[in-house]
Amino acid sequence: MKELKRSRVNDLLKKDCRDLIGKEINVKGWVRTKRGNKNVAFIALNDGSIIHNIQVVVDVPAFQNEELLRNVTTGSCISVNGQLVESKGKGQQVEILASEITLYGTADPEKYPLQKKGHTLEFLREIAHLRPRTNTFGAIFRLRHALSFAIHKYFNDNGFYYLHSPIITGSDAEGAGAMFRVTTLDFKSPPMDEGGNIDYSKDFFGKETNLTVSGQLEGELGALALSNIYTFGPTFRAENSNTARHLAEFWMIEPEMAFFDIHDNMDLAEDFLKYLIGYIMEHCEDDLLFLEKMYDKELMSRLKLIVNSKFERLTYTEAIDILVDSGQQFEFPVKWGVDLQSEHERYLVEKHFEKPVILTDYPRDIKAFYMKQNDDGKTVRAMDVLFPRIGEIIGGSQREEDYDRLLSRIKEMGIHIEDVWWYLETRKFGTAPHSGFGLGFERLMLFVSGMGNIRDVIPFPRTPQNAEF
Ligand code: 4AD
Ligand code: MG
Repeated sequence: MKELKRSRVNDLLKKDCRDLIGKEINVKGWVRTKRGNKNVAFIALNDGSIIHNIQVVVDVPAFQNEELLRNVTTGSCISVNGQLVESKGKGQQVEILASEITLYGTADPEKYPLQKKGHTLEFLREIAHLRPRTNTFGAIFRLRHALSFAIHKYFNDNGFYYLHSPIITGSDAEGAGAMFRVTTLDFKSPPMDEGGNIDYSKDFFGKETNLTVSGQLEGELGALALSNIYTFGPTFRAENSNTARHLAEFWMIEPEMAFFDIHDNMDLAEDFLKYLIGYIMEHCEDDLLFLEKMYDKELMSRLKLIVNSKFERLTYTEAIDILVDSGQQFEFPVKWGVDLQSEHERYLVEKHFEKPVILTDYPRDIKAFYMKQNDDGKTVRAMDVLFPRIGEIIGGSQREEDYDRLLSRIKEMGIHIEDVWWYLETRKFGTAPHSGFGLGFERLMLFVSGMGNIRDVIPFPRTPQNAEF
């Protein structure tokens, strides 16, 4: 086969490829469909660079290798040389008149699971190793890429430094106690101490370690030196919540800013979310339009609503009053002091305000130890951003910068000082007011893709009883 530089389908269909028309080009990709008759075959080829396929036209009688052509079936992988021409058919501007085809890999039509269109998302989850080959997951993964890039761009353009927080930690940032243990100890006969407990001093790190639930505590160390940092990495939670919004392994973006109070923090969160949504509306239109058509007819209008609305800001206490006065029957009854459930959050956002909401000043007893304590002795300077369809998308706070108040909270909550002494030291040496928040990347993906289940916005979802792929 003649050696030609490979063109991406994206370059042929999207960019101005006028100067390639009439030329010999090469494309490689996976066959989506092949149809035709004994005179002509039409192959829809996709290489993942874009949602659209390029059409390859084969003059069957002139094509020497009949057997090869028979083996070009849905799912097979081919390389095509041919002339790029303006298309006579509808639906595409250009197509390729094949002169040579190399078959890299066949896909037995009797066995290839993606033979037909229209599989359910549930079925596709069971073939997570092949679902990237579908239009839906191609769109989802390109969106994930674009959003990740936009996140780094936003922070880079705004003077934030990317801090790499560790994945293995000896502390429990959120204190929720839902961590995955990391150990090299022998399960069958772990070393025991005199008290009859497992002796972790003999473990790999010489102490108990887990996968991190959040990069925040380390992020704060960075912010108290570099002023503005962000982390963006995987986080792990062993909570057994089998919902459409929880993963055991998810990605979190956590900016942390010295000299920011909670109002600065809210301003940043709002600006950041609007930027990200605006970015993908500008850069991922084809994929978004596909997802809108397939899964969520109001996707684009909902995205626009976010960019154009001013987020409503109110306190937890005010929100409780609204919920109590609403007369709504909630599955979980509301009263001051309870943690809000997504039904409550969604009522506020979707029914009451009809736009995103930021709630602040939550009861201290339902929030983490590090949040700045208000003078009322009952609430802390927490802020949660609530989105339509999602509920909580961001959780954050101003941090307690006072050494004594932080220490007393740590003791009160039974956190071991030896796990967080280094964190406490930042309040001893040059403490500063500071704030930050965590954006759940897959929650954002759920929102921007219009998908209904968080398992469908990450390549390989980790949920209870599920880590096959
Ligand atoms: O509210 P969370 O637990 O806050 C923190 O972890 C703080 N350390 C963040 C900070 O202030 N730096 O989690 C933050 C966000 C949530 O709002 C949600 O979007 C997402 O992370 N999240 C999850 N996403 C998917 N699956 C789960 N199990 C999640 N738990 C939290
Ligand atoms: Mg939270």
